[in-house]
Amino acid sequence: MAHQRFLFVCLGNICRSPLAEAIFIHRAREQDLLESMRIDSAGIGHWHVGGRADPRTIEVGRLHGIEVPSIARQVQAADFESFDLLLAMDRENRRDLLALGCEPSRIRLMRSFDPTLAETHERKLDVPDPYLGGPEGFEEIYHMLQRACEGLLQEVSS
Ligand code: 4NP
Repeated sequence: MAHQRFLFVCLGNICRSPLAEAIFIHRAREQDLLESMRIDSAGIGHWHVGGRADPRTIEVGRLHGIEVPSIARQVQAADFESFDLLLAMDRENRRDLLALGCEPSRIRLMRSFDPTLAETHERKLDVPDPYLGGPEGFEEIYHMLQRACEGLLQEVSS
């Protein structure tokens, strides 16, 4: 197993990345892989630091039996050393991480781990930001993240 410390990153750290984190923790626990891993999430922006995830994120998790307890925090330079892999939710998040000084080799687009998207061009791999939309956007990203989390777990546990 190569990667053991995972940081899920989006813009606000209240919608996409805390949901990805919660799904990944849930599945890693079910597969008895959690003990050897460090898993966290963070945002590029500072706006929501210290607060809970968006209520719609918490609700979509609840509907699928997954608790989303994370408290928002901002990405910091130390994360680029203390995590092996940073999972960017979209290309803008990746661009921002690179601009902040993160090594390219530590960053992957989250949906690049979705095995059903193996041949897909990366411009189609963004997890769309659901913040300004309705609850259906949260349901949509739940399924995207669920598939990507499965693929990521499979890759790092094989
Ligand atoms: P997230 O969504 O990046 O998936 O957490 C957003 C949440 C808040 C904001 C932007 C994106 N915001 O600008 O406050």
